[in-house]
Amino acid sequence: MNKKTVTDIDVKGKKVLVRVDFNVPLSSKDPNDTNITVTDDTRIRAALPTLNYLLDHGAALILCSHLGRPKTAADRQYRMDPIAQRLSDLLGKPVQKLDEMIGAAVTAAVAAMQPGDVILLENTRFTAGETKNDPDLSAKLAALADVYVNDAFGSAHRAHASTEGVARALNGPAVAGFLMGKELAALGTAVTNPPHPYIAIMGGAKISDKIKLIENLLQKADKILIGGGMANTFLKAQGRELGSSLVELDALAEAARLLETAADRLILPIDVVVVPEFKADSPATIVNVDSIPADQMALDIGPKTLELFKAALTGAKLVIWNGPMGVFEMEPFAKGTNELAYVLATAVDTGAQVVIGGGDSAAAVKNAGLTDKMTHVSTGGGASLELLEGKQLPGIVALDDK
Ligand code: 3PG
Repeated sequence: MNKKTVTDIDVKGKKVLVRVDFNVPLSSKDPNDTNITVTDDTRIRAALPTLNYLLDHGAALILCSHLGRPKTAADRQYRMDPIAQRLSDLLGKPVQKLDEMIGAAVTAAVAAMQPGDVILLENTRFTAGETKNDPDLSAKLAALADVYVNDAFGSAHRAHASTEGVARALNGPAVAGFLMGKELAALGTAVTNPPHPYIAIMGGAKISDKIKLIENLLQKADKILIGGGMANTFLKAQGRELGSSLVELDALAEAARLLETAADRLILPIDVVVVPEFKADSPATIVNVDSIPADQMALDIGPKTLELFKAALTGAKLVIWNGPMGVFEMEPFAKGTNELAYVLATAVDTGAQVVIGGGDSAAAVKNAGLTDKMTHVSTGGGASLELLEGKQLPGIVALDDK
């Protein structure tokens, strides 16, 4: 990475504003629930190396993050209190949660900070101007600190006041944290200098938002294995009948174009699990992709496809996986996704670097208890996709060059 990191600067006695991505799953979305807890603290834990490093080197920490997609502060279910509680447990020290992000109370609390203190500001998206990257808000946020550290890889594709504007507004160093560096090292390999054979695995419902990504991957990867709902659109573009399966009619022409340019490198399912209704207890059968009944829909890849994918992965040096192979939220259709996670864990044992591109695939790997088996599991969903698409992420671009 050509950006400065926390090890390039002196933070002793400094007030350091750290943008983290504490956008974590919560136990409730009810604004009146007063007992909301964090149900998955992976993203909080992922920031600890940076936070502990800064604390060990004499900084006082002002932390900020968004949580969810609130419209205003009235969306009380997205207050940062449960996060402050969890972070305090993980750091083993008090975390002072403030009820605003900027303003007189925040300025006063920050003025009173001593090295080793930790403040967590209120949800950045409660403040108008955050998502618009308002320069006035960026300047007010920047005025709180001597140094800015961005460790929020999951939000690095957003040009918001707390992820981009503040880095430019602050009169002092603006550098990357350890998580940011780790994510860029793991995902960056796939973009810049991938070892071969390099196999990408794409899944999820839609191809329309992943066309650019597939195009970019086709320039670097040897093969792309395609599962999930997006495979249906490719199968349809090849002239198959998909019954009542999800097919993106608007994307058929694009799918046909991609197949024309790289048919031998796009590996599609050969069998699927079909059901008459979109319900977990709907009676399932496994059929060939050429024999999908008119009144049934495909909700998972079948066992022959899994074998096909397994064979394609043999000897791989780098594997990137993004998107589930089926409707994995419903247990009867999670088999393809879960078994793929096991196949990938085995690939690591035989020398492949396996990078999981965040979001649903990260959740699937976690559910299978295989997170530690993978080379890297990204904390960013959208951010990792944009990076793999070959885009520059504004939250990183705004940081100081080495
Ligand atoms: C994520 O969960 O992908 C990040 O925290 C970004 O969230 P956003 O999509 O609401 O900007």
